[in-house]
Amino acid sequence: MYNRSMAKTKLGVLISGRGSNMKAIVAACQREEIPAEVALVVSNRASAPGLAWAGEQGIPTVVLSHREYATREGHDGAVVTALRGAGVEWVCLAGYMRLLSAYFVESYAGRILNIHPSLLPSFPGLDAQRQAWKYGVKVSGCTVHLVDAELDHGPIVVQRAVPVLEADDPETLAARILEQEHQAYAEALRRLLTEPWSLEGRRIRFGALEART
Ligand code: GAR
Repeated sequence: MYNRSMAKTKLGVLISGRGSNMKAIVAACQREEIPAEVALVVSNRASAPGLAWAGEQGIPTVVLSHREYATREGHDGAVVTALRGAGVEWVCLAGYMRLLSAYFVESYAGRILNIHPSLLPSFPGLDAQRQAWKYGVKVSGCTVHLVDAELDHGPIVVQRAVPVLEADDPETLAARILEQEHQAYAEALRRLLTEPWSLEGRRIRFGALEART
């Protein structure tokens, strides 16, 4: 558990579907593993199952369909306005299947996280678990990273490796990666919100600067 005197950071979680990573973040906040609370869940799809779950938990939710905006910037502008309105300080992409515009990335510069189901930089993009399985890698996993303007690209915060078993198909591999995703997201948030860290190029260094040689 973190030091209780720490102020809780307000998180905004963006989803497009199931929302299991969102649930894992909410659970980690409730277990007080991370000094944060989910202040808003945003979905670009009204039918996202995770949205209903969040509503049932009493978490504020908003649907902002990208189809109702002429441009990516227009949609992102509405999302950023909603996040700011809820006092959101950090943004967690959790199965949010939209590329963020430069405007969005700059609005929350260095405070947007994404989770991706492969060991980046291998297999960015859609259906990463199937890509890895088809390629024949023996180890895959997941990556939590800071978001920049490129797809599945920013500085890496946490990675977890998952072996690919002989008997695996894309679905069984994805299921084992997902278990690790849920732990990795909470770990990344805990470290970023409770430890000193800095960026050197695209490398995230944890620990106080003066403690390093
Ligand atoms: C997760 O596997 C996440 O890593 C992936 O979508 C899934 C969402 O599941 N994200 C990406 O592929 C982003 N490039 P969830 O809705 O149950 O969290």
